[in-house]
Amino acid sequence: MKGFIAAAAATAITGALAAPSPVEKGPITARAPAAACATPVTLSGNPFASRSVFANPFYASEVKEAAAQITDSALAAKALKVADIGTFQWIDTRAKISIIEDTLKEVPCDKLAAFVIYDLPGRDCAAKASNGELAVGDINIYKSEYIDPIVALFKKYPNTAIALVIEPDSLPNLVTNSDKTACKNSASGYREGVAYALKQLNLPNIAMYIDAGHGGWLGWNDNLKPGAKELATVYKNAGSPKQVRGFATNVAGWNAWDLTPGEFSKATDAQWNKCQNEKLYVEAFSPELKSAGMPAQAIVDTGRNGVQGLRKEWGHWCNVNGAGFGRRPSSSTGSSLTDAFVWVKPGGESDGTSDSSATRYDSFCGMEDAFKPSPEAGAWHQAYFEMLVKNANPPL
Ligand code: GLC
Repeated sequence: MKGFIAAAAATAITGALAAPSPVEKGPITARAPAAACATPVTLSGNPFASRSVFANPFYASEVKEAAAQITDSALAAKALKVADIGTFQWIDTRAKISIIEDTLKEVPCDKLAAFVIYDLPGRDCAAKASNGELAVGDINIYKSEYIDPIVALFKKYPNTAIALVIEPDSLPNLVTNSDKTACKNSASGYREGVAYALKQLNLPNIAMYIDAGHGGWLGWNDNLKPGAKELATVYKNAGSPKQVRGFATNVAGWNAWDLTPGEFSKATDAQWNKCQNEKLYVEAFSPELKSAGMPAQAIVDTGRNGVQGLRKEWGHWCNVNGAGFGRRPSSSTGSSLTDAFVWVKPGGESDGTSDSSATRYDSFCGMEDAFKPSPEAGAWHQAYFEMLVKNANPPL
């Protein structure tokens, strides 16, 4: 309810200067399409404060189809509720660019469209499950056939507010996995590609968050400063774009927001990591990033972190068995450094195949704590989705 009131006020203010358009008369309906919104959007400050993330039609239809397959009617009803929760939409291939407009056409004035930019050359250099379509060296294809057409689409919808997560895992992998040949080979393309994305996507209606891994990744004492430096350097190379708001954490991840003591705080190496939950990570990483010269507000993926105590180690990332949907998206985070809890990973889409004969099989997806069998990364995983619904915390 709070969000609705704030959004109503914001629309009234922006609408005041422009000729009233028919859709803005009377009570605001949730479906007022953005193309008909009266004025161009200029985002500054926390973009989630006055607009929540739009439940995009792509994920909503995945969820509706999934709910229709559930025979237990109480569970099916809970599953259906997920279709109304705003999640990010992953643009993980050039072919997916075409679905962006389906969403942009429908976003109401009081909502944010949210996308993940995810197609770097040599993607997922430290693992196999999410290896992408572009090879190391294909940087010009990334720029002209991936980023440029996306920018053109976003420019067509200046009245629509958009939030972006930029290239999950890419820069964090350069901080901690540069000893791996694939990451060494990918490094210059990652840096050039992310800088290009930030520069070109720097439009007034967009707010960008660069992926910064999670507390169990860049939260180690020795990784905080190099991590901040890596992100800030790319940001500065892009010309310090105004619409970069900060960083995203726990994307497709499992860490708790503020569980104390943290899930792995009894591990033998815990003394080397002060960031035993994501809140602590945000509080430690944000000042480092700021002093490295980059804006440092956070968003945190809470989509699948509802259940803790499932992983053997917190580096385990693939289809963690027993997981449940986590905190609902919200800008009420209780943390001045955290703009919002968001659902970035669309819960129900797989993290990677458990078929050990597949080209993209990664051994993490065969681990004891991983759900098996599981389909290819990004593919719908019905059994996993049903588990997330059952184990949702808070319940659906
Ligand atoms: C994984 C997949 C990608 C998918 C994303 C969201 O990273 O590799 O294809 O879009 O998850 O489910």
